[in-house]
Amino acid sequence: MENFEQLKTVKFYSGDATPLEMHKVRVVQKLNLLPIEERKESIFGAGFNTFLLQNKDVYLDMLTDSGTNAMSDNQVAAMSVADDSYAGSSSYTKLENAIHEVFNQKYFLPVHQGRAAEHIISKTFVKPGKVIPMNYHFTTTKAHIEMMGGIVEEIYTDEALKIKSDFPFKGNMDIHKLNKIITKWGAANVAYIRFEAGTNLIGGQPFSMANLREVSAIAKANKILLLMDTSLINENLYFIKVREEGYQNKPIRDILHEMMSYTDFSYFSGRKVSCTRGGGICTNNHDIYMQMRDWVPLYEGFLTYGGMSVREIEAMAVGLVETLDFNVISHSPTFIKYLVDSLDKRGIPVITPSGGLGCHLDAKAFISHVPQGQYPAGALAAALYVASGIRGMERGTISSVRDANGDDILADVELLRLAFPRRVFTLSQIKYAEDRIQWLYDNRELIGGLEWTEEPPVLRFFVGKLKPIGDWVDKLVAKFRKDFGDSL
Ligand code: F0G
Repeated sequence: MENFEQLKTVKFYSGDATPLEMHKVRVVQKLNLLPIEERKESIFGAGFNTFLLQNKDVYLDMLTDSGTNAMSDNQVAAMSVADDSYAGSSSYTKLENAIHEVFNQKYFLPVHQGRAAEHIISKTFVKPGKVIPMNYHFTTTKAHIEMMGGIVEEIYTDEALKIKSDFPFKGNMDIHKLNKIITKWGAANVAYIRFEAGTNLIGGQPFSMANLREVSAIAKANKILLLMDTSLINENLYFIKVREEGYQNKPIRDILHEMMSYTDFSYFSGRKVSCTRGGGICTNNHDIYMQMRDWVPLYEGFLTYGGMSVREIEAMAVGLVETLDFNVISHSPTFIKYLVDSLDKRGIPVITPSGGLGCHLDAKAFISHVPQGQYPAGALAAALYVASGIRGMERGTISSVRDANGDDILADVELLRLAFPRRVFTLSQIKYAEDRIQWLYDNRELIGGLEWTEEPPVLRFFVGKLKPIGDWVDKLVAKFRKDFGDSL
């Protein structure tokens, strides 16, 4: 096996903390940067929802890292030798071998993406009234659990929702709260405990191995299953390796195997972890495997493809093994750190410490004059697109739901997520983002709120439409022209 181990960074003579790409670009995609007047038209056309923008109108697509990562040359090469067959494809055998090597798991169920795994897991293990404690929810996870009548209990630590913090493991579970929940509901009413690696909605924040070990001991003592969402495992592994005592000299493979040894089963979105598409459920427990197995051919496809193309399966097998390469998993966290630290130093409100996944601007502080009921994170997402052509994602009250009375459940945090698809953007593009965010911050008093024009009842953030309250977009465009002249 290739030796991927390395914990060295390249130091610059100048002393600058500049992240350095350990790969080179061999295939490129042309980008468009529209003039600001056309960006304004595009955001109105998209109902102020960045999900509804056309990619041709976007300069840097920082909406998500899902399905937008750059593949390696070896992944692309593997796609050309795929074995097309409905059943028993040798491409699938390669994937099973990779699952075994990377995750040390015997049984695998392929699915077309992460939420399909959530569908099958919820269908099998969640019953009405059962509770599922977790460090933090993810949108699709919660929707699947609630559709089966389950109750999500979040047991994050007090550090988790603090925007400014130097706590290295904000994705940890609060052990005290976990014990209290088990006592309150009774262990028999807990469907399983869910631990999300690289906790997405609180800013791509990792958990520590020590915390996982403790949670696993509690789960075992109470005979409760422990499920891990490994979609963002790459960066969680990176942070354990660089931040947790005792792991600096451990091979990534051993760290991952130790993590998996504490779980009963796990699932992932291949759109993130393996830089492909697809997903899967892994376990070493034959009984757990058998409980879910027969849903795969019904909902996804036969057991040797699960809704994925064989080309994707080949690329996934290679991509998963590349997860064990320190250069691969360190790329996005070091680039994210560059942007987060630089914005933080300028006094621009961002989630600290920097995590995986992306840079998260704190919209509540950025535009504190916009009330939460007027969706500050959505307004900031729209304003940044107008100012720069950069598409981020609202992760605040628009991504939340309404209560039984029809009132918005205000989100714990109002974030604008600027995702870093793995190995996609160059440092000068990140510097452009830094520059335009600074300009927007200096002109933040111009930004106003949003209101709904079309609001779907389920997962409204995906396709819902809004409009600005007042004429703040025109004022922003006019100020841009005044400051930047005829610049794009
Ligand atoms: N779990 C986590 C932690 C995720 O971040 C995602 C997706 C899923 C599960 C669902 O996987 O998209 O393959 O069905 N996150 C994407 C995002 C959508 O943009 O953060 P999926």
